[in-house]
Amino acid sequence: MSRGDQTRRVWTLRGASTEYTVAVPEVPEHGRWLELVAWGPHGVSDGPSPVGYDGPTPFLTAGDAAPIEYATDANRPFTGPDLVVETATGDRRVSWRWSHTEADADQRQLTVGFADPVTGLRAVIRYEIPAGTDVVRRWVELTNDGPAPLRLVRAGSAGFCVPTPHGARLSYQWGQWAQEFQLDHVDLGHGGFTIGSAQGVPGHLYVPWLAVRDNAEPDGPTWGMALAWTGSWEITADRDTGGLTRVRVGRNLPDGPLDLPAGASLTLPVAAGAYSPDGLDGLARVWHTYQRQLAGERLSPRPVLYNSWEATYFAVDADNQLALARIAADLGVETFVVDDGWFVGRPDDHGGLGDWTPDPAKFPAGFDNFVKEVRALGLNFGLWVEPECVSPRSKLYAEHPDWVYAIDGRPITPVRNQYLLDLGRPEVAEFVHSTVDGLLRRHDIGYLKWDFNRPRTEPGRGGAGGRVDLDGAHVANLHRIYRDLRRDHPHVVIEACAGGGARTDLAMAALSDVFWPSDNTGPLDRLAIQYGFLHANAPHLLSSWVTDSPGLFDPRPRSLAFRFVLAMAGVLGIGADIRHWSPEQRTEAAAWIARYKEIREIVMHGTVHLIGGPDQSRCAVQYTSPDGGTVVVLAWHTGRLDGAGLLPSRPVRLPLRGLDPAARYRHDERHYSGSHLQSVGLPVHWTATHDAELAVLQRV
Ligand code: DGJ
Repeated sequence: MSRGDQTRRVWTLRGASTEYTVAVPEVPEHGRWLELVAWGPHGVSDGPSPVGYDGPTPFLTAGDAAPIEYATDANRPFTGPDLVVETATGDRRVSWRWSHTEADADQRQLTVGFADPVTGLRAVIRYEIPAGTDVVRRWVELTNDGPAPLRLVRAGSAGFCVPTPHGARLSYQWGQWAQEFQLDHVDLGHGGFTIGSAQGVPGHLYVPWLAVRDNAEPDGPTWGMALAWTGSWEITADRDTGGLTRVRVGRNLPDGPLDLPAGASLTLPVAAGAYSPDGLDGLARVWHTYQRQLAGERLSPRPVLYNSWEATYFAVDADNQLALARIAADLGVETFVVDDGWFVGRPDDHGGLGDWTPDPAKFPAGFDNFVKEVRALGLNFGLWVEPECVSPRSKLYAEHPDWVYAIDGRPITPVRNQYLLDLGRPEVAEFVHSTVDGLLRRHDIGYLKWDFNRPRTEPGRGGAGGRVDLDGAHVANLHRIYRDLRRDHPHVVIEACAGGGARTDLAMAALSDVFWPSDNTGPLDRLAIQYGFLHANAPHLLSSWVTDSPGLFDPRPRSLAFRFVLAMAGVLGIGADIRHWSPEQRTEAAAWIARYKEIREIVMHGTVHLIGGPDQSRCAVQYTSPDGGTVVVLAWHTGRLDGAGLLPSRPVRLPLRGLDPAARYRHDERHYSGSHLQSVGLPVHWTATHDAELAVLQRV
């Protein structure tokens, strides 16, 4: 694959429709870094590099302007390195030289090594494009082959270079609890933009995801970055005076530098880069394809579930759960999930966490008997857990007060009245694993909702071998436990949750089956949350419930149909108190669930187009079956309901995408050409009572 001339070594990685070309300049005289040549559609590298820089760099160094793939502070002293290494005596500016490259024959994997003759630090930069995707995965392995300890003051995973000659348009997602995944944009002329988390979890505040495109082409070529790391993280975009936007992606180190003792190695998290020629909407499809690939064989339709949280909160008991389960089964629900409150000492959120025994007072005939009764209704059974947390009032905390994150001599910060277990400790990891594994072995459980309701507040823990990388140890053990549970209980579907959507990153997308994106199920709020979510995540990861009107957060009226069509955009669930639903509501619900079962294969596997948006008069998601023969359109009326359909108006038109213009498509009794549907759009008539649409079009 090397096309290297004598001074420059060049390698190209090829994805389904993209390529990513890198080079080491002027080997061996230079050889100080690896740089990007081009990243875009097949063939993009065949021409002058759009990111290359060979002008003067007065008052800077050459590396500050170069499109370096992974820069130390010696390479990029002034414009932002990815890695800063300090020696025991406090020296920085560790630099290295190219040592070797390995590339596979099908151009999907590349390894480039560098070594520092002074400290002995070795870096291996790895690339991989999974087959059938346009996502380049990158990570770095650092090894201290020298005699003295080193410290990583900054430990980023990757730098991504994007040509933005007319200014950079950045898209990102901000939020807070109950308002996650808010898609927003910022124009970056010069300078920097940073998002991140110091919470030991990806967090509600920002999503570890960014999209970058040139300002002159807002719907054109778009590059995306995301991180597979379930702890603290940072993404920074800097646009330089020459029009290059460089995005640094990696861990954030709120606990301080990472020790790298002599002989030790450290692998930094995978950063992923995606490219689409079709704007943010196209970029979403690139991420969807990648996440479907991560799910592999587990990409089967998730069950329609009922979750009892909003119906009973902590007041769980066998009678009320069975009453809900009976109705749910009649509606066509497939899995019944008992949420928080089923275990001893949990009448509210002040106690119980850590003591994972079913409360005999709530299940007087025995928990297993209860599970059996649920299963006898034809339902699979699911259970909520939050095994990394502990209530100060629990037996577990009384027995192991030293298992929580704490700073000697200082009070521990409670959040939601609970402490956090120090999962990096082997005995704590063993407890968490054996607790969940034990529950899955003892009881007939087919679905697990794993929650996490607080950030980590207490930094720092010394150990015999020096400072402990708390974030790294917590995340590593969390991932290992997930992997072990999936290996040993492959039939159990795992839903990842953290007070809503605070734990959604690419690592969790690979390790869990579905995400709970927000506690806010109010219809219009939820629409905005799901719209942002689907830009970064595939529909199989989107858990969504139909809850009661007016809802906890968003009282703006919307029909039951609206709530169902909204929840059908991903994995349909019900969270309402269905004991109080009228016979008419139950009949309607059963019909929606039946329709969802007809379309869910297409929702899981179909090509997604995000049409309009929650702040526009047209807002829809289109799913086209892999063979192109069936097109499912879910659409929502975002405007006022009072007066809808009364004022003179034309129907809203939903322009569909990716159809065959020459083909004809049938919707109910009407036929349309693909050309009409793409250029004019599918008509929808909103009225005060018709505020959502599920349209299934068949190619005829
Ligand atoms: C937060 C979750 O997001 C909710 O769905 C629910 O499981 C509660 N925790 C239970 O405490």
